[in-house]
Amino acid sequence: MSNTDQLDALINQLVHANDPEEVKVLYRQWAATYDNDLDSFGYVAPQIGTALFCQLLADTDAKIHDAGCGTGLVGKLLHSLGYTNIDGSDFSADMLKKARDTGTYKHLLQADYTQTISLQSDTYHGVISIGVYTKRFKQHFLGEMLRIIKPGGYLLFSCRPLYYEEVANLVMQLHLDGSIETSSVTEDDYMKGQGAKAFYVALKKSTTNAL
Ligand SMILES: C[S@@+](CC[C@H](N)C(=O)[O-])C[C@H]1O[C@@H](n2cnc3c(N)ncnc32)[C@H](O)[C@@H]1O
Repeated sequence: MSNTDQLDALINQLVHANDPEEVKVLYRQWAATYDNDLDSFGYVAPQIGTALFCQLLADTDAKIHDAGCGTGLVGKLLHSLGYTNIDGSDFSADMLKKARDTGTYKHLLQADYTQTISLQSDTYHGVISIGVYTKRFKQHFLGEMLRIIKPGGYLLFSCRPLYYEEVANLVMQLHLDGSIETSSVTEDDYMKGQGAKAFYVALKKSTTNAL
């Protein structure tokens, strides 16, 4: 992608897209230039999200899942910090190919978070998901992410302000039904070049496995 207006338009289209097939096509077209494009927009969410995630999960042997790994920006950061046991998933085959080329993921899976993910329950010490949450997911996404996390494990995900009210309600529900023990939210930069902020939401899955 060559100019800022085109990139702005693409991001806007992705934020408002309702049809998963449309989203897939957009990421197929974007995969080749994604890293450079977002670098030029000052996309700092992977760095900020990874730093918060590492505070939750300091054990570098922990089994981690990068949900919506895209081209692998989060996996590369985790790997550079010494984490070696990282899996990832994404529904775009083109983004997954880029992630595979980084050599930082043990297993990569094509998955759609509006459906049941073909991963066993209680598998990961932590799941990180940066730049992925959208209004299409509703409570299904959080339910699936918590399902694949071990009791007492952590989920860290980013969410744009546009979705935050919905997310705050979902998190309250998870507290009420006993699925999570703790939650915290950090507001920080998302795309610095655009002055865009995001909420980084951290959840600890209950040790009593209420799911
Ligand atoms: C903005 S990118 C973020 C990628 C990476 N986490 C990062 O920070 O660079 C969003 C990713 O979510 C994936 N995605 C979007 N909708 C999805 C869905 N329904 N199921 C699985 N992955 C999805 C896209 O294919 C894309 O790779």
